[in-house]
Amino acid sequence: MSTHAVDRLWPDPASDLDLDEAFADLHLPPSPAGRPLVGLNMVTTLDGRAQLGGRAEGLSGRADRRLMQLYRTGYDAVGSGAGTLRADDFYSHLPSDLAARRVAAGRPPQPTALLIGGSGEIPTDRRWFAHADQPRILVIGAGAPVPDVSDGTEVLAAPTTTPQPDWLLGELAKRGIGSLLLEGGPTTNAAFLAADAIDELYWTVGARLLGTDALPMIGPIPGGSPWANAPREGQLVSVHRSGDELFLRYRFG
Ligand SMILES: NC(=O)c1ccc[n+]([C@@H]2O[C@H](COP(=O)([O-])OP(=O)(O)OC[C@H]3O[C@@H](n4cnc5c(N)ncnc54)[C@H](OP(=O)(O)O)[C@@H]3O)[C@@H](O)[C@H]2O)c1
Repeated sequence: MSTHAVDRLWPDPASDLDLDEAFADLHLPPSPAGRPLVGLNMVTTLDGRAQLGGRAEGLSGRADRRLMQLYRTGYDAVGSGAGTLRADDFYSHLPSDLAARRVAAGRPPQPTALLIGGSGEIPTDRRWFAHADQPRILVIGAGAPVPDVSDGTEVLAAPTTTPQPDWLLGELAKRGIGSLLLEGGPTTNAAFLAADAIDELYWTVGARLLGTDALPMIGPIPGGSPWANAPREGQLVSVHRSGDELFLRYRFG
């Protein structure tokens, strides 16, 4: 039971629901053949910006921070690009109540943490590396220096300088990972959209306007988007409201 209340606006409108109960089971669809299901979780302002002062913090409120953990609870792995870890000292390790919820559902207590680097520096001093009880996979590009992580993190070198989503999802499937929650940033999201590997979108709309040139939820796809003239169509799954913020869920498929 959390201290946050939400209203479900669609489907089946209902007021004053407990956030933890409203998102207790995500009812994820089955994984596509040969790869994990990919959900994308992002927060933006009303004018569509995904950064505030170069970071993700401050774009949404406390209920959304708990909701991030609830989404993580439903997935086998939680990943993001190295640019996000360079900007934010984040980690996906779950608090004990949600770890217990996973165990009760017959799953490992923690989702596998995934960090997708390329050729740049990996900030190994971050708290992402600090949780010994969480399996961690660090992906680096071909030829990139192998970071000094002697803490149980599996380092996986890609066959290309920039790891490609299709290859990465195949590697995760080989490890028995059936679902990946991607948490940005916009550059990594663009690579997954280019590969047509976004199946679900969890979008928190913070009730704020910025008017800056900060990155949007999904950056422009290098070389042009395959969807530029035929947009990827989503289906609305649910809409919740917490105060002035909206929690939207879409499915693509
Ligand atoms: N609002 C939100 O919900 C939210 C969520 C997450 C992040 N953010 C914000 O977004 C910003 C970070 O986003 P970002 O777009 O700069 O970085 P990012 O997407 O987190 O990471 C980009 C890096 O990922 C590596 N990479 C691995 N595979 C790749 C591929 N196939 N294509 C491209 N890059 C690949 C590259 O690392 P190398 O540089 O090593 O080559 C690349 O520079 C921060 O300001 C963060 O606060 C916001």
